[in-house]
Amino acid sequence: MKRVAIITSSDSGYKKEREDLSGPVIKEIMETNGFTVVSMDLLPDDQQMLSEKMSQISDGHQADLIVTTGGTGFSPRDCMPEATLAVTERIVPGIPEAMRAYSMQFTKRAMLSRATAGIRKDTLIVNLPGSPKAVRECLEYIISELEHGIEILTQETSNCAR
Ligand code: MTE
Repeated sequence: MKRVAIITSSDSGYKKEREDLSGPVIKEIMETNGFTVVSMDLLPDDQQMLSEKMSQISDGHQADLIVTTGGTGFSPRDCMPEATLAVTERIVPGIPEAMRAYSMQFTKRAMLSRATAGIRKDTLIVNLPGSPKAVRECLEYIISELEHGIEILTQETSNCAR
């Protein structure tokens, strides 16, 4: 069973001024696709806190995948991509590239997503935008390839041939 940890970046959510609607959407989609959700964290738009949480999960081998939501835009406090890159050992540019390309059919503002993805130890980290709509659009598009990537990463398989 593949394990996923969810991290939401939101100052207002962390202060309980706004409900996190995107984290539960990620949970629903991941469980529908056979993943076990091992943790859900709602953190402020604080780069050090976000990086520390991602490192803790990866270095503790707590999850095969970390899916984040929020903090990928231009707002002054948005720092999820920077927090991710700070803990990334190997970048995975293809996943955010694919999400942005696919998302252009919904909104040209998809080009404004600074989302990134990378690998730390044997955990894959993927940034999603913050809105529940964007989360669903992006995650449902990439999830089948995430599963293959995790199988390779965890050496469950070494066969890339379909
Ligand atoms: N991607 C999809 N699929 N659908 C969307 O509605 N919103 C865009 C972009 N990517 C969007 C999307 C917008 S408006 C922004 S500002 C960026 O994601 C960053 O979103 P975030 O600040 O919520 O992370």
